Amino acid sequence: MPSLDSGQSEGPSIRHPLTEQKLTSALAEFESVLTSTFPSNWDRTYLDVGFVTSPDTKDVFFLPSFAFKTGTITLPDINDLKQDPGKNILSVGAGPAYFEQFLLKLGVNPNQIMLSDIDSRFLPADLPHTIFDMNGQWPSFDGQQFDLIVFNQAFPTFKVIPPDERKVKLIGILGSATNALSDDGEIRMSGLRLDTSIQDVSVALHGLSISYDAQKQFLRARHAQPK
Ligand SMILES: C[S@@+](CC[C@H](N)C(=O)[O-])C[C@H]1O[C@@H](n2cnc3c(N)ncnc32)[C@H](O)[C@@H]1O
Repeated sequence: MPSLDSGQSEGPSIRHPLTEQKLTSALAEFESVLTSTFPSNWDRTYLDVGFVTSPDTKDVFFLPSFAFKTGTITLPDINDLKQDPGKNILSVGAGPAYFEQFLLKLGVNPNQIMLSDIDSRFLPADLPHTIFDMNGQWPSFDGQQFDLIVFNQAFPTFKVIPPDERKVKLIGILGSATNALSDDGEIRMSGLRLDTSIQDVSVALHGLSISYDAQKQFLRARHAQPK
């Protein structure tokens, strides 16, 4: 898929951080353009909730506002990325990467965002990306580490696999993500149907400090002892 181009992007600005108000209006404008680009056969029943479905592949894709609602991405993150070109983000299971493309629209540099997915089909081919299975061997990223590693609703199969298997998979994924995480970086996972005690997961990953909000199905993890 090509990336969306919905007009001129805001340049990086150190002196003028993005405000909540500007973010809200930019989001509304971006989503109005975005929704006009969806293929006509995509199911929009849940557009108000924040997602659309491709009937051919059954893939579900989320509007950028959904990523803000869950806390996958926040206004302070955007200002950090804009003010420090050395900050970066890895998005795993990015699909068409709608919220990530919105960050570009806000002035984040494309080389600050690495997209990834198991499947290249929906990824914007003209943006930096890499293909791997999050349950398998992760690439080395040439030694690069990331300040944010996000999994935005990237666990569609978790609802159909047994809780014990989910736990084993999550431990493996978190272990791999930890290797790619900068010293004071954060891992965020939304839409995680865990059904298991986070304690069991934490015990297996001594080096990580993990918190899980079961109601929001949202996990955060950081190095337990940042260097
Ligand atoms: C529900 S979609 C969400 C896509 C996007 N993050 C969003 O919020 O719209 C889940 C995505 O995870 C990807 N995915 C599923 N299993 C994966 C795996 N094992 N490794 C990497 N990506 C995976 C799918 O290809 C799909 O693009």
